[in-house]
Amino acid sequence: MIAVRNVSKQFGDHPAVRDVSFTVGEGETVVLLGTSGCGKTTTLKMINRLIEPSAGQIEVDGVDVRRKPAHDLRRKIGYVIQETGLFPHYTVADNIATVPRLLGWEPDRIADRTRELLAMLKLPENSLRRYPSELSGGQRQRVGLARALAAHPSILLMDEPLGALDPITRAAIRREFRRLDELRHTTTVMVTHDIQEAFELGDRIGLMDQGRLVQIGTPDELLHRPVNAFVESFFEEQRLFLEWKSRRSD
Ligand SMILES: Nc1ncnc2c1ncn2[C@@H]1O[C@H](COP(=O)(O)OP(=O)(O)O)[C@@H](O)[C@H]1O
Ligand SMILES: [Mg+2]
Repeated sequence: MIAVRNVSKQFGDHPAVRDVSFTVGEGETVVLLGTSGCGKTTTLKMINRLIEPSAGQIEVDGVDVRRKPAHDLRRKIGYVIQETGLFPHYTVADNIATVPRLLGWEPDRIADRTRELLAMLKLPENSLRRYPSELSGGQRQRVGLARALAAHPSILLMDEPLGALDPITRAAIRREFRRLDELRHTTTVMVTHDIQEAFELGDRIGLMDQGRLVQIGTPDELLHRPVNAFVESFFEEQRLFLEWKSRRSD
């Protein structure tokens, strides 16, 4: 569904992303993991063309994203970022309706879809008329996700979507997200620096370092068949916990 081929991005003389290649299958969740500054966000933003690659190519459904019209990418690709990117002067309802309106949906259809999303993401009905600043951090994050999913995108890009939340809320939302069928069926690329989050949400994890994709594989592969000492040491500290976790989720 997504193919990233030998993609690099240079900012001035700083190579932010270096020759990265990976694919994401339909319905799969790939998590890009790595420390701050290793090139995760830049890689993600090249998929929906917020950033243009310096070299290489990205395909969605077999078509180079540079040849896809902007409105097509907007409908097809939902995008969630850490501070949710909600419009502060729009109500929750207007935020959720953003893309459906751009696509010219009828008001009834937008209202139906909005109600469906509220129920799915456990948001109270009365939040619709509120502004983002009147919600808790966890609720804002749910609205961010509702907005991204509103027009049934076939691809979801999430950049540290839970990064602004406290650890307890974060773990709770993570568990919930994992159980949502609609999310499970949406092809997703998520970025995080949180190892546990990557292990809980990723079908596969791509570990990045200094602009390079060092290894991509299932959580189990990264843990038990690291390609080099960097990968091994990255997970070392949390090895016992992760092994317990991956056994428990079998
Ligand atoms: N617009 C930009 N101009 C110059 N350098 C940038 C820009 N965006 C990111 N960088 C640099 O590229 C590198 C990778 O950034 P980023 O992809 O945001 O990393 P991550 O998301 O993994 O923290 C960093 O060194 C960052 O400072
Ligand atoms: Mg980032």
